[in-house]
Amino acid sequence: MVKPKTQFVCQNCGTVHNRWAGKCDGCGEWNTIVEEDPMGGIGGGPGKVPKKGRAVALTTLSGETEEAPRIHTGISELDRATGGGFVRGSAVLIGGDPGIGKSTLLMQAAAALSRRGHRIIYVSGEEAVAQVRLRAQRLGAADTDVLLAAETNVEDILATIGEGKRPDLVIIDSIQTLWSDTADSAPGTVTQVRTGVQAMIRYAKQTGAAMVLVGHVTKEGQIAGPRVVEHMVDAVLYFEGDRGHHYRILRTVKNRFGPTDEIGVFEMSDIGLREVTNPSELFLGERNAKSPGAAVFAGMEGTRPVLVEVQALVAPTSLGTPRRAVVGWDSSRLAMILAVLEAHCGVRLGQHDVYLNVAGGYRISEPAADLAIASALVSSLAGSALPADCAYFGEISLSGAVRPVSKTAQRLKEAEKLGFSSAMLPASSAELPKSSNGRWIEIEDLPDLVSRIAGSAARFANPQEDD
Ligand code: TYD
Ligand code: MG
Repeated sequence: MVKPKTQFVCQNCGTVHNRWAGKCDGCGEWNTIVEEDPMGGIGGGPGKVPKKGRAVALTTLSGETEEAPRIHTGISELDRATGGGFVRGSAVLIGGDPGIGKSTLLMQAAAALSRRGHRIIYVSGEEAVAQVRLRAQRLGAADTDVLLAAETNVEDILATIGEGKRPDLVIIDSIQTLWSDTADSAPGTVTQVRTGVQAMIRYAKQTGAAMVLVGHVTKEGQIAGPRVVEHMVDAVLYFEGDRGHHYRILRTVKNRFGPTDEIGVFEMSDIGLREVTNPSELFLGERNAKSPGAAVFAGMEGTRPVLVEVQALVAPTSLGTPRRAVVGWDSSRLAMILAVLEAHCGVRLGQHDVYLNVAGGYRISEPAADLAIASALVSSLAGSALPADCAYFGEISLSGAVRPVSKTAQRLKEAEKLGFSSAMLPASSAELPKSSNGRWIEIEDLPDLVSRIAGSAARFANPQEDD
């Protein structure tokens, strides 16, 4: 008899190895490879004879379609991120760092749905019933009809939720605690997590209940992270935020039923998460417009404009190699902008440390922030504050040209709404909206921007030259 072969699976990235090794070739992580039984997971157990295939009817792309049936929570920031509510018969994965507020968010969602007459089951594998109740009391959700269970075994969970009337929504908190009798590996391994998630997805598809799965993002890689199941679920949302700040962002990274670039913004308070309907006001809240090195970026998150302040500090270095530190932005993008400033504008930063920070712990992923960042850098170097009522956006190319970005009109409208009466933006931006009192300054290239900022800096330094 052939001895069943075992395989060695990296718990961080899921790469399969033939033998154990200290370091995974796939992701470079150490001590993440664990021996697993390949037959134990999805696809049946050992000794199963493959059955003869059954032909399914082929069909065409045109035909009747239905709008996906959704259940709305009434929490508009959450509904926005899911693309209009949870879809029946689908599985959503909500990932995030431990302690960021995933359980809090889902308890609030469960309570809201339950108040709307839906049958909601909350399965907690991490906390005891008493702990979940305590949180529910704090969130003012204790009086709702949310059904609660503390269980981690996949078969027991399926039996529990299969009993009685079909639930509208099931929350599994979290996938890392799931373990199944059919898989031989230890709980928390890739095989166990995949088997558990597979079973939950199958339940959702069969019954039409919506399934919400919570997954912790783990940097250590000891426990299988949400990434190994991202491809299996219908939607993936990440709950992000900085522990030092109160607000949290629910970001859609995959959605089979809606757009993927939407965000929901929340603020953590002592009675749970509060919706933030105007994120720009939050991010600009603690602004000190008089200090050099601060520029306001008019950004977009999906369909929603978000204004946020970027702060730069450029200071002469005392080290051989100057420091470059970035929080909330891509550091290679900063290196690129510094190179363009040196090459095309004669701004020498080789003897300067450069620190860059996005206010409020927010993360910018848009290249449209280039112009705001360049402005902040030049402003800090020149030691003069930028005009307080000016917003910036535009992408910078390696040639120093400022390239147009999408959704110019929406960015300007939001800026104007928040009291910014001028903006610096790429030239040839199509359809500039008429504004009541705004001044839209079109910037051709980076040298143009630098001379404008440096020009006003010189005027500040020698005010008498002005008249
Ligand atoms: P939690 O939802 O347990 O995080 P996760 O499920 O993502 O691990 O939230 C944990 C943090 O949230 C905890 O540090 C306390 C804080 N918190 C509040 O500030 N206010 C509240 O009302 C609640 C319930 C939690
Ligand atoms: Mg939790």
